[in-house]
Amino acid sequence: MRILVTGGTGYIGSHTAVELLNAGHEVVIFDNLSNSDIEVVDKIKKITGKSLVFYYADMLDKPALDKIFDQEPIDCVIHFAGLKAVGESVKNPYLYYHNNIVGTLNLIEAMQTHGVTNMIFSSSATVYGTPKSVPIDETFEKGQCVNPYGWTKSMIEQILTDIQRANAWNVVLLRYFNPIGAHPSGLIGEKPNGVPNNLMPYITQVAIGERKELGVFGNDYDTPDGTGIRDYIHVVDLANAHVCALKKIGDRSGLSVYNIGTGKGYSVLEVIRNFEKVNGIPIPYSIRPRREGDLASYYANADKAKRELGWQPKYGIEDMVRDSWNFQQMQGRSVSSEQDS
Ligand code: NAD
Ligand code: UFG
Repeated sequence: MRILVTGGTGYIGSHTAVELLNAGHEVVIFDNLSNSDIEVVDKIKKITGKSLVFYYADMLDKPALDKIFDQEPIDCVIHFAGLKAVGESVKNPYLYYHNNIVGTLNLIEAMQTHGVTNMIFSSSATVYGTPKSVPIDETFEKGQCVNPYGWTKSMIEQILTDIQRANAWNVVLLRYFNPIGAHPSGLIGEKPNGVPNNLMPYITQVAIGERKELGVFGNDYDTPDGTGIRDYIHVVDLANAHVCALKKIGDRSGLSVYNIGTGKGYSVLEVIRNFEKVNGIPIPYSIRPRREGDLASYYANADKAKRELGWQPKYGIEDMVRDSWNFQQMQGRSVSSEQDS
């Protein structure tokens, strides 16, 4: 299939482009490079030995989107483009609603104009809000999101659900848990802007000496060691879930929703210990107060994706911490970064 990957130079989009090319699909990427680098295009080509088409375009620019669809016969859109920093979305909700929602509406309009009716969307486990229990499966009701970023995901899910129903589209909503890791080549991975909010990039920046110590947000949760538990998934496994989801598009299955996680949770301290053991680097940390909005335990029941998509995660926590560190080492220390306390 010829796939349009929006946000395809970003963290998850670039890994998905690699897996799509490896699986024999043709890839067209568009990205406005607001949170990624143009060099990623060459890195994808280098990893796969295959070519792809890249458009520098913003999804807020409707004529630019139309031009892409005029030029490219697209079978399916995999929609990653969006802003994703939780804290920034709290400070500047308009930016998030405008970019993520208006951008997606523009994309939908361009698809409708050009008769493209297949979409896989990057959603998030955050749409479940505070779940009644764990593991979380797809029969759980969606909940109250704790930040505007989460609401954009929840709202876009609703928009796509209604469009699918009204216009007989094929839509797959993938609810990611916690993607970490990087391509084993070390060429592509996650490059956070400024001080990382997420656990794994913070750990790798401590490991490389860019930050002094990790703050562990709370050790008094109702979990075996008191620290928060999450379902970490290797980004290459996550990327492959999109390739498997194309099966549902091919089957013309209407609307499908899947959790993408491993089904196994690790605490913050377990992640630190695995990182130290696999990479042989100590991670100094101190216990800090709980972070607002965090839950004790959040992990998936991902059996539906395994059953219906034939998707199976291949990588474990040791691979995730190894590949995260490998990527950080390839990047080196960021010259401009300031030591925090
Ligand atoms: P990312 O920031 O690395 O990639 C997103 C890409 O979209 C970037 O390359 C950015 O330049 C591009 N983009 C943003 N606004 C755009 C616009 N208006 N027009 C064109 N391009 C635009 O993020 P990621 O981690 O790869 O996430 C990809 C998707 O997955 C996002 O929609 C994100 O919300 C979702 N998601 C991510 C996580 C996570 O933890 N990383 C978890 C759940 C869901
Ligand atoms: N944590 C720390 N110290 C840090 C960073 C994180 O102790 O410096 C802890 C958190 O308290 C949490 C765990 O590490 O217990 C994971 O935190 P992350 O910030 O890496 O991930 P979250 O589960 O909080 O959030 C992520 C994405 C959200 C998404 C959510 C659900 O960042 O965008 O998963 O998919 F909504």
